[in-house]
Amino acid sequence: MQHSEISAIDADAVLDWYDRHARDLPWRVSPADRARGVKPNPYFVWLSEIMLQQTTIAAVRKYFAAFTRLWPTVQDLAAAPLDDVLVQWAGLGYYARARNLHACATAVVVHHGGVFPTTAAALRDLPGIGDYTSSAIAAICHDERVAVVDGNVDRVIARYLALSKPVREEKPLVRATVQNAVPGRAGDFAQAMMDLGATICAPRRANCLLCPLEPDCRGTKTGNPVAFPVPPAK
Ligand code: ADE
Repeated sequence: MQHSEISAIDADAVLDWYDRHARDLPWRVSPADRARGVKPNPYFVWLSEIMLQQTTIAAVRKYFAAFTRLWPTVQDLAAAPLDDVLVQWAGLGYYARARNLHACATAVVVHHGGVFPTTAAALRDLPGIGDYTSSAIAAICHDERVAVVDGNVDRVIARYLALSKPVREEKPLVRATVQNAVPGRAGDFAQAMMDLGATICAPRRANCLLCPLEPDCRGTKTGNPVAFPVPPAK
């Protein structure tokens, strides 16, 4: 078998796992509902993704509930005084992010008629939205076939390929490996890969017996998958 074949991610296996084990998150549309045509709310997805850059899912649940109760739509958030947004953000850290959040809501209202752009490229132009967030929103909300790579996905791929170099030196390979696998259900796949990293291929425990990628994973074949990703040289 060729190198490229061995390394390919089995998206069907990942999606099959996700159909059975997707986490129930307030901003997420379940795979069953997604299959029925229910679409995620881009405002909720955006808000959750910005918050998740700061802190854990457990903490974000509380902040997400408070924000969406006070400001159920992007118009409501844009109309809120910045100080009120900063007060609600307290505890999440990095106030620049809260300022960007408010600036982004304003930009969506002023420049996009209150509707989030639908492509990763267009989303990328909004305040506080980088490569990761633009890809996540476009994939999750519109099934754009883009690679969504966060820290969890870095770890899954570093183990899957048993990368001998630190993952930050292999970003292009990690991205290409994910990109090559992105199926039509791009949003479910993106969320599946992140859930896999968070719940199965966890930092200190790999739980390979439960993993849909186990059959072709080089990391598990080494016998010590948690040795990956290898730490950066000091
Ligand atoms: N971590 C950050 N964003 C996530 C998402 N959409 N699904 C699961 N984990 C995440």
